[in-house]
Amino acid sequence: MRKIYLDHNATTPVSQEVLDAMLPLFKEGFGNPSSVHSEGRAARVRLDESREQVAGLIGAKPSEMVFTSGGSESNNFAVFGTAFAPGNKKRHIVTCEVEHAAILNPLKQLEVMGFHIERLPVDSVGRVDPERVKNALTEKTLLVTIQHANSEVGTLQDIGRIGEYAHQKGILFHTDAVQSVGKVPVDVRNLPVDLLSMSSHKIYGPKGIGALFIRRRTPALFSPVCGGGQENKRRGGTENVPGIVGFGKACQLAKERMTRGEVERLIEMRDQLWGRIEQSVAGAELFGCSDNRLPNTLGCGFESADGDTLLIALDMEGISVSTGSACSSGTGMPSPVLSAMRVPVEKINSSLRFSLGWGNTLSDMDRVVETLARAVQQNREKSLATPKAGSIE
Ligand SMILES: Cc1ncc(COP(=O)(O)O)c(C=O)c1O
Repeated sequence: MRKIYLDHNATTPVSQEVLDAMLPLFKEGFGNPSSVHSEGRAARVRLDESREQVAGLIGAKPSEMVFTSGGSESNNFAVFGTAFAPGNKKRHIVTCEVEHAAILNPLKQLEVMGFHIERLPVDSVGRVDPERVKNALTEKTLLVTIQHANSEVGTLQDIGRIGEYAHQKGILFHTDAVQSVGKVPVDVRNLPVDLLSMSSHKIYGPKGIGALFIRRRTPALFSPVCGGGQENKRRGGTENVPGIVGFGKACQLAKERMTRGEVERLIEMRDQLWGRIEQSVAGAELFGCSDNRLPNTLGCGFESADGDTLLIALDMEGISVSTGSACSSGTGMPSPVLSAMRVPVEKINSSLRFSLGWGNTLSDMDRVVETLARAVQQNREKSLATPKAGSIE
């Protein structure tokens, strides 16, 4: 049975070209880039090349990129780096309810320390109103952090306007672009962002490596990882050269794919998937913004069905997806993103996320819809046949 992987927003398989680029770095290319001898210098060359590739994907200068251990560290770096920046006396940060945990949790920690965190609501499709951001800004605001794309429903935020409003008041703007970079064009030359988070494993690179873009002339940040003078003294620790080289290659490939029209192919597959779901599965509902959305992401609910049961039924047929229910997240809480969009709990518990990738095909979508339609029908029949707790038989 051919496996169909539709969970690319969780992680992606490492591309063969990425793996080929990385493997020699574990053998002959093992040098420490800070060493002066030939092994060290060779590693430094590879590091510099990769930094150019990563910067090239978002239109940044190589000197504006700091390598980190992934999107989570980049987000923590942006939040703690600005809050504890030398000389900062401001204590107000503006964010929104649908941020990733790697933003929300560091902000919670700051709140305990006395910072004032303003979490703006989103509308029913997961969008933050830029005017609300504007109105929330005060002379005490040190940072606005609003994600570019949401991982669960794919909704894209208007980071252009949000960033402009922040800049009009001289406030730093960070965006978590972990889900958007490599899927939609992101060019920091045209975006009013000071800090931007990226992660390699969402774009067919290895796990455990990411980057924070720090625009030139951004005031010095507090460094959450202090050590040697690596990364221009901004993040200590011997560089993960194989990971960085893999990340660089993944960025180069993502850029090539986007210019070859592959994004349009993703949109076609995603739209065909939703179109066929709508036709074949009664009571299916799309979550998130229908137009301003990641090309690969489809979040939807299936009335009177149970998302976890559907996930398992699909998995048994070789199809991997994810859900937003309390059970799958392991937190005991239904998806905070769908909750913030005011989706009722029973609908959240019926939800599935399909996130497509370069390896999927249009014929995969046919098999997914057939299997899903069957699974939903079986699930509904079973729940009708099961007496509800407390009912009289
Ligand atoms: C929007 C967003 N930000 C940050 C992260 C964390 O990235 P990483 O897994 O590289 O730490 C993720 C991962 O799911 C994400 O989707």
